[in-house]
Amino acid sequence: MARLSSKDVLRADQFSVDEVALIMETARGFADALARGDVLDRMRGKILSTLFYEPSTRTRLSFEAAMERLGGKVVSVAEAKSSSAAKGESLHDTIKTVEGYADVIVLRHPQIGAAAEAADATHRPVLNAGDGAGQHPTQSLLDLYTILEEQGRVEGLTVTLVGDLKHGRTVHSLADLLANYGVCFRFVAPDALRMPSEIVERLRAKGITVDESSDLAAAIPETDVLYMTRIQRERFEDPAEYDRLKDAFVLTRAMLEPAKDSITIMHPLPRVNEIATDVDGLPGAAYFRQAANGVPVRMALLSLVKRE
Ligand code: NCD
Repeated sequence: MARLSSKDVLRADQFSVDEVALIMETARGFADALARGDVLDRMRGKILSTLFYEPSTRTRLSFEAAMERLGGKVVSVAEAKSSSAAKGESLHDTIKTVEGYADVIVLRHPQIGAAAEAADATHRPVLNAGDGAGQHPTQSLLDLYTILEEQGRVEGLTVTLVGDLKHGRTVHSLADLLANYGVCFRFVAPDALRMPSEIVERLRAKGITVDESSDLAAAIPETDVLYMTRIQRERFEDPAEYDRLKDAFVLTRAMLEPAKDSITIMHPLPRVNEIATDVDGLPGAAYFRQAANGVPVRMALLSLVKRE
């Protein structure tokens, strides 16, 4: 039986297919309960601490809303500069301290591996809400949930990931997560921002078809799920390089003319310029539904990692 009690959530590829199925099923149950207006108390008496050392709107607010919806409480550091990290405190010491205040810790941090380091420092469950250009596993779970909601299945779909595949942690996690479901990948990126080769090799070793190009128009007709991403300005050392690449792909309604009627368009948000607003009215434009799905999926994660 899949069990997640007291576990950390650090990477998308840590989960077995059974564990993912349990998370999806639990999330669906919570979505139904929210739709009915049920008042829940699964996390009553528990405290979540959200520590965000990088900007966030959706991830932090949906984790906090999830905890509140489950009857729990939240203590939060929303800005690193308002915490003792600004005084030079190590991540280890911050986490050891927060362990005394909260039952579950959600961390977003600019360094790859920071969540794993935090997990080593505490016996409390640590949920990685993004570690630099590394992973964003809870996002990929809500992305999978969204694909299942929108398409009714995931096996056999052609999933096209577009944009900054080099620095984008959402696409790193999503690629690893979907690799267990027999999807067909198309990666569309400027040459300088291709998916890291170790991820592509990992996928191919699992027998997944991966097609890499920089031609978005050519990928659209076969695509079932089009996943647009932002060029990650904060990861560039050279601002001129960012300026050169920032508008590499801008999806417009006209470009979707040859797309399947059933196409689902996703984006982890925030969007800067990647999707023209004329796309928002299409039935397949799922990005705001996707953001809303963060609440039931994070409710599922919080309730499943709770110590029994
Ligand atoms: C993403 C992130 O922080 O990695 N946002 C999110 O969590 N929804 C995507 C991004 O910032 O581009």
